[in-house]
Amino acid sequence: MLFDTHAHLHFPEFADDLPAVLERARGVGVRWMLTIGTSVEGSQAALTLAEREPDLYAAVGIHPHDAAEADEAAFEELRRLAEASDRVVAIGEIGLDFFRNLSPRDVQAEVFRRQLDLARRVRKPVLIHCREAHAETLEILRVEGVPVAGGIMHCFSGDAEVARRCLDLGLFISLAGPVTYPNARKLPEVVRLAPEDRLVVETDCPFLPPQPYRGKRNEPAHLPITAARVAELKGLPAEAFGARMAENALTLFGIRST
Ligand code: NI
Repeated sequence: MLFDTHAHLHFPEFADDLPAVLERARGVGVRWMLTIGTSVEGSQAALTLAEREPDLYAAVGIHPHDAAEADEAAFEELRRLAEASDRVVAIGEIGLDFFRNLSPRDVQAEVFRRQLDLARRVRKPVLIHCREAHAETLEILRVEGVPVAGGIMHCFSGDAEVARRCLDLGLFISLAGPVTYPNARKLPEVVRLAPEDRLVVETDCPFLPPQPYRGKRNEPAHLPITAARVAELKGLPAEAFGARMAENALTLFGIRST
């Protein structure tokens, strides 16, 4: 029983075979999936999909890559989507990406702040994307505050010190495929130091497949590989700890497990 807390199942990469992708996920025990918007149009598509599939939920938000396109109409539509349905369980993905810098940094920061404010107003947790921008992301979160509903540092890529600061802010830490890579050095330490009730797992599919599938399209059916690696690093049985991480996600998103 697993929860894929970060997937992009409405992306064109899945347009041709989504039913088969979902069946494979269900077949290996991935019981809940969150499909995450990265733009206004993508957020609309995420919600449409979540309303169609009983085990799929949606998050709405504007990715830092797309921040330059966020205008007032976009924030207005995001707010409408966030309140449109109880299938929308989070605001994301939002944050800063100073690796690719597809939008100007000051614009990324402003769009991140605006969406933290949106999450506060609609009382939903945030899904934070942070690449090569840990100091700046933590500073914005320190000044603005993490919304009461909490949040997840998605595809965590920081070191132990960044992890401690995220945990102090009340955030969950989400591990994706990179924790399975043989050269992962900082992530095992991060997993070991994080409390059991603050860890979740994700695929970030179609991106970042775990080790055996590197170079291919990722999908939720590969989540057990990442979950098993996290459990192994914790020294806990894979199945039980996978279920524990699913419970963490269900609690954060306010979803009943029955
Ligand atoms: Ni993502």
